[in-house]
Amino acid sequence: MTALELPIADGVARFYENVHYSSAHRDFQAMSSTLTLVSPDTVFEDRISALIAAMTLREKVGQLTQFNGSWNLTGPEASEKRTREKNDLLQSGLIGSVLNAVGVEDVWALQRCAVENSRLGIPMLFGYDVVHGQKTMFPVPLAEAASWDLDYIELSARITAVEAAAQGVNWTFAPMVDVSRDPRWGRVMEGSGEDPFLGSAIAIARVNGLQGDDLTANDTVAATLKHFAAYGFAEAGKDYNTAEISSVTLHNVVLPPFRAALEAANPRSVMNAFNTVNGIPATADEKLQRDLLKGDWGFDGVIISDWGSMIELIDHGVAEDPKDAARLSILAGSDIDMESCVYIDHLEDLVRSGEVSEALVDDAVRRLLRLKFELGLFDDPYRYLDAERESSQLMTDAHFEASLNVARRSIVLLKNDNRMLPFKRGERIALIGPLANDKDAPLGNWRAHAEPHSATSVVEGFDELGVDYAFAEGVKLQIGDAEFTEPVQINQDDRSGFEEAIAAAREADKVVIVLGETARQSGEGRSRTDLGFPGLQQDLLEAVQAVNPNVILVVMSGRPLVLSWSDAHLPCIVQAWHLGHRAGRAIADVLTGAFNPSGKLPMSFPRTEAQIPIYYNHLNTGRPGPRDDVVWSHYNDEQNTPLYPFGHGLSYTDFAYSDLKTEVSRTGVKVSVTVTNTGSLPADEVVQLYLRDRVAKISRPIRELKGFQKLFLASKDSDIAQFTLTGKELGYYDQNGQFVLEPGVFDVFVGGSSAANLASEFTITPEHVARLRTALR
Ligand code: NOJ
Repeated sequence: MTALELPIADGVARFYENVHYSSAHRDFQAMSSTLTLVSPDTVFEDRISALIAAMTLREKVGQLTQFNGSWNLTGPEASEKRTREKNDLLQSGLIGSVLNAVGVEDVWALQRCAVENSRLGIPMLFGYDVVHGQKTMFPVPLAEAASWDLDYIELSARITAVEAAAQGVNWTFAPMVDVSRDPRWGRVMEGSGEDPFLGSAIAIARVNGLQGDDLTANDTVAATLKHFAAYGFAEAGKDYNTAEISSVTLHNVVLPPFRAALEAANPRSVMNAFNTVNGIPATADEKLQRDLLKGDWGFDGVIISDWGSMIELIDHGVAEDPKDAARLSILAGSDIDMESCVYIDHLEDLVRSGEVSEALVDDAVRRLLRLKFELGLFDDPYRYLDAERESSQLMTDAHFEASLNVARRSIVLLKNDNRMLPFKRGERIALIGPLANDKDAPLGNWRAHAEPHSATSVVEGFDELGVDYAFAEGVKLQIGDAEFTEPVQINQDDRSGFEEAIAAAREADKVVIVLGETARQSGEGRSRTDLGFPGLQQDLLEAVQAVNPNVILVVMSGRPLVLSWSDAHLPCIVQAWHLGHRAGRAIADVLTGAFNPSGKLPMSFPRTEAQIPIYYNHLNTGRPGPRDDVVWSHYNDEQNTPLYPFGHGLSYTDFAYSDLKTEVSRTGVKVSVTVTNTGSLPADEVVQLYLRDRVAKISRPIRELKGFQKLFLASKDSDIAQFTLTGKELGYYDQNGQFVLEPGVFDVFVGGSSAANLASEFTITPEHVARLRTALR
């Protein structure tokens, strides 16, 4: 990978012309002797070298330091002394980047400090977690993954970038590409689920959306892949916990989305992780960061630490003190210190004492400056700061429309016995549940700058469509004192609303009950061991079902919940996640049939928490069973299968799969299948292709997703889905992280979920292997 080579030969000079600040001009004169050495047509690298040569060690270390901007220039923070120090550093333009400073006015003020007060006038970067929207909220990433719709996912990221950039952000800490098999971990809402193939495709779409075609444009932002690596494997689903992971899983499951996005979409930064892998905290992991990511993979962007993850090396027990933490971090290739303050406090000393070579510091600074050049900040450090754009480009009608479109496609119809859905004309509907009229839960956890309580509720969605219904909350929400630390909970003891809800259910033909998690019940630091409905919701559900069995359960959540009781007792279940601003309308569209659902699960839904981790692409074991005795790999008291498998999702129509063909050629294996819409409604179907490598050097999963395609089919229409499997899909990484392509027999399964049973097989000969290898080069 090479740096983007943009024609900004006279960038630094123009930058000062644009800015018109006298102090900046003064400093430009002071450094012009260095800069005139740079010929007008040199590209970034020469300009960066010149800048680095002009920088003091103190200035370099300042560039590698990132402060949190919710601390402001005058306000108090942790300790007064530290706040004063931060203030001084920022005022004197010594800091390279700020996170959590949003809004044109505030960002302008900070940028002015950097540009006017620093000796070399180096602009700052402004980073922010813009995970599923800036002001217009989109479905949480896990929900979007359920759409399997790469165009819409890219569009969602594009709009997110437009809005974030309009508020002064030029760098986002997204997408999170952590594969996870554990719904106890609250951050599964932020990723794309359990599968590396789907996760890779989505990672590419998201980076493309955020960075657009031109990073210098004022409506694109630099993307960050995170968290490098294996944060999604936090043991027992407990956030920040140790990752216990084999090297085979690391290379075949965790790393592929990083690598795929780096190769296909060139994200400009990577964030490391809080956890250890093999006993080494990611921030201090030289092998992963310096050798693999920057070395073997040739990543030339910036590695940023996670918040405080450098200072946490002390708690991990690998650093003696903050200075040691700084030393380990820079040696391991962590370029930017986010809020640990160990670089600013100790890196100069470490270089002076010879414990750290200045060349390492220079390399980190070069990466950061490269990003600033690529974003065009040396041309115009205020390019993101346009009050007019801030007032015209946020929450536009087009953005809300896009959010609705993505939300509709993210809904997964899990169960629909007796064709309970869609509603039929004239039916009396009762709408029940604490989340049915809630305008906040759908906004999701990483709501960036969204207005609280601003989503369309299901009640409002029904009203928009003119649905006739009787509403009863049943259980109330409890509003906590502090939005983040004491979030909205669902009532645990107040049953006063039950009676009204039961009465409404009795009167109705069908009951829609909206239950699940509030926005802050999933997300960072929101690990849970009980994946049932919080508070009194289950009691309410059972009370309602007792008087009317025609219950349609709508689940709002940021993760798979355990829905076994519901599956056993209710005819219909709709997984509606946290769908963003237009959630209620999207749900109403699906319930009424205005939109035919097409979402497919990006994670397995367990029958019980005790099955976790449960995932479709597991190994076979030596005793897969079933057998008549007990000595096979199973539970005595629970099935092996999940309640709903990966890839599952129903439609209001049915699909038939036939005519599966495989053809092995020089460059790969061609697979085709005929898909027919046998029902009476037009619909989208996500056609999924799974492979099994029967015999290999290491045990391989019983099946792995290796292709998918979304087909639109009118009623009774057929189409052919075609896939090409290259060496990339046929090979795997062995226990040493080496890519292996072997001859042998492969099973192929095609269908509408990971339980697909239409199967065929093909054989890869040694000759094929040779050709496939050449084609990969
Ligand atoms: C900690 C989170 O782990 C990370 O994903 C996020 O980007 C930073 N905080 C900054 O908010």
